[in-house]
Amino acid sequence: MNGSHMRVYLDYNATTPLAPEVVDAVVAATRDLFGNPSSVHHFGQQAKAAMDDARTAVATLIGADPSEVVFTSGGTEADNLALRGAAEAAEPTGRRHLVASAIEHEAVLNTLKALARRGWRTTLVPVDQSGIVSAERVREALADDTAVVSVMHANNEIGTIQPIAEIAAVAHERGALMHTDAVQSAGKIPVDVRALGVDLLALSAHKLNGPKGAGALWIKRGTRMLPILTGGKHERSRRAGTENVPAIAGFGIAARQAASKIKTEGVRVAALRDRLEAGVLGGVPGTTVNGAVDARVPNTTNISFDRVEAESLLIALDLEGIAVSTGSACSSGTMEPSHVLRAMGFPAHRTQNSLRFSLGMFSTDADVDRVVAVLPGLVEKLRKLTRKAVGI
Ligand SMILES: Cc1ncc(COP(=O)(O)O)c(C=O)c1O
Repeated sequence: MNGSHMRVYLDYNATTPLAPEVVDAVVAATRDLFGNPSSVHHFGQQAKAAMDDARTAVATLIGADPSEVVFTSGGTEADNLALRGAAEAAEPTGRRHLVASAIEHEAVLNTLKALARRGWRTTLVPVDQSGIVSAERVREALADDTAVVSVMHANNEIGTIQPIAEIAAVAHERGALMHTDAVQSAGKIPVDVRALGVDLLALSAHKLNGPKGAGALWIKRGTRMLPILTGGKHERSRRAGTENVPAIAGFGIAARQAASKIKTEGVRVAALRDRLEAGVLGGVPGTTVNGAVDARVPNTTNISFDRVEAESLLIALDLEGIAVSTGSACSSGTMEPSHVLRAMGFPAHRTQNSLRFSLGMFSTDADVDRVVAVLPGLVEKLRKLTRKAVGI
């Protein structure tokens, strides 16, 4: 690809391209491992062996025991299983309250809403402009009948890393379970379930160069859970349904690669992200980073552009071959302002003028150079148009 036609993908928090070894593993498993992993014959046992291998790799990535890893169809299902499974198991104990941060992914927020419709009380813990959830605020939200506290490890929009170990300790003091959505941290920073002190932890393969449609919930041994999918005895009766063997095999390869390169990739990607951020802040007047800049995953920066509609800038960048995200959900043609930036207390204009740049495995210096070269002109053009439109 020559310079002018080079496409730049900076939306790794939405999804990642597959590592070549992952593609090979998925293809090989699709072709060769068609057996049902629950079957006792050779074909079944071959598929099961591939799944066991993947389970070990995923467990190693998070410092867990393989028997505690339950494969799911992705991060959304893992979050659902964590919250619904733990909530249902807690019901007979009289616990009827759930706590989550206001900046959780929809997979958590909408699951809480669904449980609220079934009589659960829910409390969302607010955050300040740092985008960090304070353990003290979680403590204030807890009640004697809190069943589960759910706080994400890293935020998908601004990348902030939450003090999970501290929050887990606070949750446990009140006898609540602690769930963390580690979909955006696993593979980017070290994740260790014991160090985090959690009971439940959600992962998604496609955020760490694995295939879509595979994920996992780590369930600490002894945690009372009910399945949300009922059927056969798959996954030790914790998640019924014939497993997606090719995707899970790919997940295993991706997890193993992520674990082996986590330090070097973290340093490499952070250097690119920092250069991108400095280039944008220095090259475009009226720009600010959203959220705390120190406690962040290495690949993410979320930048606000004064007097620019993020959606227009996103489209202008796309026309230049550069893919970024607003972090806002685009549903039925209307842009919803980011619930994360809103929860951080930013005014409406700031929730609508912010772009997320997220880097990863295939990001290069040339990608950064291109964005830094193109952005100032695009922003200036959009600002001129706005000035014309309002007659100044
Ligand atoms: C923080 C977080 N949790 C959960 C999910 C959902 O994961 P999946 O796409 O695998 O269902 C995502 C993906 O956008 C995410 O960023």
